[in-house]
Amino acid sequence: MSINRKVQTLDEFTIQQLRNFPHATGELSNLLRNIGLAAKRVNVEVNKAGLVDILGDHGTINVQGEEVKKLDVYANDQFTGVLRHGISCAGIASEELDDFVAFDDEISVKSKYVCLYDPLDGSSNIDVNVSIGTIFSVYKRVTPIGTVVKKEDFLQPGNKQVAAGYIVYGSSTMLVYATRRGVQGFTLDPSIGEWALSHPNIQCPVSGKIYSVNHGNYFKYNKGVQQYITACQQKDKSNGGPYTQRYIGSMVSDVHRNLIKGGIFMYPGTTDKPEGKLRLMYECNPFAFIIAVAGGKATNGEIRILDIDPTKLHQRTPMFIGSTDMMDELAACLA
Ligand code: AHG
Ligand code: MN
Ligand code: MN
Repeated sequence: MSINRKVQTLDEFTIQQLRNFPHATGELSNLLRNIGLAAKRVNVEVNKAGLVDILGDHGTINVQGEEVKKLDVYANDQFTGVLRHGISCAGIASEELDDFVAFDDEISVKSKYVCLYDPLDGSSNIDVNVSIGTIFSVYKRVTPIGTVVKKEDFLQPGNKQVAAGYIVYGSSTMLVYATRRGVQGFTLDPSIGEWALSHPNIQCPVSGKIYSVNHGNYFKYNKGVQQYITACQQKDKSNGGPYTQRYIGSMVSDVHRNLIKGGIFMYPGTTDKPEGKLRLMYECNPFAFIIAVAGGKATNGEIRILDIDPTKLHQRTPMFIGSTDMMDELAACLA
């Protein structure tokens, strides 16, 4: 049997990257390795979800006022536990927790990074075997190393992110992460439990033909959004249309597909919820960072998602994200 040494593992890749920075400490690589570990644990549970008592509701309501699923709780515990016991994270904030958690042990207070995450995205799809995900965001703390992290370490605008990424638990399991140097995609080889580099240097196509939005809310969107949706449907063959509508209902899967194939994903504000549904710190900022590195765009309809100054951990925002040409067409309708 020949061994294909062309496939690089996540650890090999991040360590090789480190060699470009003689003063790097390896803390970020280690943090990514921990995220990869927590994701593998969640993956095992997701794959046997129908067999063990992990489907269904947990019986509680989270800080966002949403029903909590058992897998939401499991995934949150895995990510929080792995990062707490690791050596590269000073504290976390999670969509599933009311407030941030500062790790106050001797090792963690010396760490320079904080991590924010949506441990399980697409909860409503868990019980019906449709792809779900995890989204994460990494910032350098602003308070002094050696002290316990505070709220200001977490409430930083997206343009301060050091890294961001997501995991898709889909037909295969993928971990995609971005630093300013590029977006890299790894596929889990379940036979050996390793993340293998399968999608190096992901670039979002400049134009695309897929639009993703919850059509059921059409009459609650503003005129500009309605006009753009109609434009997607009215394009004829001569101008590259009509576009195709695809909406899974797991943002991770929807944006992952559009990142690879080209497209636009929208979760606009509605008449009853002007801020929309998606959370700035756990869902929008990480994806806005990834798409920006990959050459696409993300806005709230007015300004870049990355430039929003957060005031609350669980803040929501309208979200438009995708291929540059489509984002520009949208901007013209919203103007
Ligand atoms: P979560 O499961 O973390 O609460 O997020 C679900 C989000 C997002 O993934 C998805 O795009 C959106 O909710 C779907 O919402 P609608 O059903 O309102 O379209
Ligand atoms: Mn989510
Ligand atoms: Mn979630």
